[in-house]
Amino acid sequence: MATLYAKKGEPLSAEDIPKTGTIAGAGSDTADAVHRRDTSSIVGRSVVTLDDLSTIQIRELLRKAQYIDSHRAQVAGTCSGRVLATLFYEPSTRTRLSFETAMLRLGGQVIGFAGAQLSSVSKGESIHDTLKTVSNYVDVVAIRHPKEGAALVAAQSADVPVINAGDGGHMHPTQTLADLATLQSRFGRITDLTVGICGDLTFGRTVHSLIETLCRFGNVRFVLISPDELRTPQYVLDRIQSSPSCSYTEESDLAAVIGDLDVLYMTRVQKERFFNEDDYLRLRDTYILNADKLRLAKPDMAVLHPLPRVNEIATEVDDDPRAAYFEQVKNGMLVRMALESSVVGDELAGFEPADAKEVFA
Ligand code: NCD
Repeated sequence: MATLYAKKGEPLSAEDIPKTGTIAGAGSDTADAVHRRDTSSIVGRSVVTLDDLSTIQIRELLRKAQYIDSHRAQVAGTCSGRVLATLFYEPSTRTRLSFETAMLRLGGQVIGFAGAQLSSVSKGESIHDTLKTVSNYVDVVAIRHPKEGAALVAAQSADVPVINAGDGGHMHPTQTLADLATLQSRFGRITDLTVGICGDLTFGRTVHSLIETLCRFGNVRFVLISPDELRTPQYVLDRIQSSPSCSYTEESDLAAVIGDLDVLYMTRVQKERFFNEDDYLRLRDTYILNADKLRLAKPDMAVLHPLPRVNEIATEVDDDPRAAYFEQVKNGMLVRMALESSVVGDELAGFEPADAKEVFA
């Protein structure tokens, strides 16, 4: 494999990471331990990765998101009196606005910063101290940070629930909830699917989160499509391998495999995680989904993309019924409404919690 000069190795220094911490790929839980995780209340819980939630809780969040969509007025006061902090140390449009809109639509309020240069971080404040401080002001925190492991440190420092809105190339759990909600609405299921994931599989945190979670629900065949330099990290491949009902193949030619797919998850080459501009320029246009390629796909294949897109999907695809990426955006807000209200412990008016056995089925 060619050497690629990229910033992936930008984890926190050893002293930043609490001794009890687990970062996937740097000594994470085994899949077994994860599956045994208790299924009790989600109230007060931080979500660094979806491994922090049971599969029952994830399904329940998806049900809540669906309920919220059809009961918008009824849920509009759910989080009245609550405050969310969005601490965004890295650029974002959709994710920050989505977290904030979610709280506003639940009747709560929002504080925060976008760009660490505007905060005390520019004076050298640690994540620990920022979270200790902000915990006094708010009921829940959403944090995005360029360093892998930062959300875990934040969760261990804060006295209120912390939701990871993306930590470096590691994880992006709420994007995965949006992805699952989109699969659920397109196919009526999140299992028994052939899922192609295409683009930057090395640095794409949405990819790592999605694979991790789909493996827990099982019965997914992954087709991992990337240039040689941007292949899926070994810790993610290990996760697939340790899931008995899942399998993967690694491919480089999108057109050759697109006809087999139920889902095509396109991703952007993560420019900000490269050291070397030339590498980025050489790789960024490797895959472009256009109407010609889409003609080779199944008529009901769903095209997902976490956005923002650069060139990976031609705009002519937007009007194709298979394009699901703007639906994903809507689902992102709904799942964040479900998650924010759940971790602060506010019930959605009229929502009936599912019987655990039924949710699991
Ligand atoms: C993704 C991210 O930030 O990882 N965007 C998002 O949150 N919707 C994907 C990306 O930036 O490519």
